[in-house]
Amino acid sequence: MKQVVAPVISNSEVMPGVYLIWLESPQIASVAQPGQFVMVRCGEDTLLRRPLSIHQRDSDKIALLVNVVGKGTHWLSQCKGGNNVEIFGTLGNGFTIHPTSRNLLLVAGGIGIAPLGFMAREVLNQGCSVTLLLGASTATQLYPRHLLPPKTELIITTEDGTIGKKGMITNLLPDFVDWADQVFACGPLGMYKDMYTQREKLLKTKPTQVSLEVRMGCGRGVCYGCTVKTKTGLKQVCKDGPVFDLDDIPWDKLELL
Ligand SMILES: Cc1cc2nc3c(=O)[nH]c(=O)nc-3n(C[C@H](O)[C@H](O)[C@H](O)COP(=O)(O)OP(=O)(O)OC[C@H]3O[C@@H](n4cnc5c(N)ncnc54)[C@H](O)[C@@H]3O)c2cc1C
Ligand code: FES
Repeated sequence: MKQVVAPVISNSEVMPGVYLIWLESPQIASVAQPGQFVMVRCGEDTLLRRPLSIHQRDSDKIALLVNVVGKGTHWLSQCKGGNNVEIFGTLGNGFTIHPTSRNLLLVAGGIGIAPLGFMAREVLNQGCSVTLLLGASTATQLYPRHLLPPKTELIITTEDGTIGKKGMITNLLPDFVDWADQVFACGPLGMYKDMYTQREKLLKTKPTQVSLEVRMGCGRGVCYGCTVKTKTGLKQVCKDGPVFDLDDIPWDKLELL
């Protein structure tokens, strides 16, 4: 775990209100695993650092995909090449890929593509096949295809049907789940609730990991602000997660934020 000052290399708005920010950080790039995150200091006015997934990495740099929702993410969205950003990481457990898994089904709802974009790139490099089910509210909010590795098999849904199939991304799960050895998901809580309550119909018995977003104070197991109830006791999302087995959390009873 390292605290570093990372120079901003570039910042571009890739969808309305969503920014792809490349940071120079060889220390973090060299150890980052898909599903892990960093805590980012977002200017002088925000007391607490903000958790953001590692979205991509290259030899000596990492990228964050930042959806502007409040003060901290707005500050980050205004950073320009040459500015410095303080980050702390890498944090969290990351996704676990079984040694025998070859066909990986990724399910991304909205900004949930942030950790899964990194995951797709890494596992394709390891020789796995990747199908990505990518859901957005509307066409303009869809993560751009050219930012995904070319070998990704991409299936799109939008809630209003402006591109791809109309509806929720979870509706497509039954069509792809038989092919998959493992399923990895990142998206809103409602998506996990659907996957949990309709597990047999949507996912059959396929092992499924999900990445959980909660408000975080410290990001390193000190403040207990991120505690959630799991079937095996209380867990800290920053330390024990953010990736959990779908079946370990009673999603239908979970209230967050
Ligand atoms: C492990 C992890 C990884 C994350 N990865 C990403 C990522 O890659 N890209 C990205 O854009 N966002 C990500 N988030 C969410 C991100 O941390 C929050 O959106 C951010 O902290 C909001 O800060 P803010 O100061 O802009 O908003 P605030 O002013 O603090 O809050 C604005 C609104 O956002 C909501 N919010 C605040 N914190 C969170 C949170 N942690 N999760 C969900 N909603 C929140 C609040 O309820 C409020 O409605 C991640 C969260 C976690 C826990
Ligand atoms: S955020 Fe402080 S313990 Fe997890």
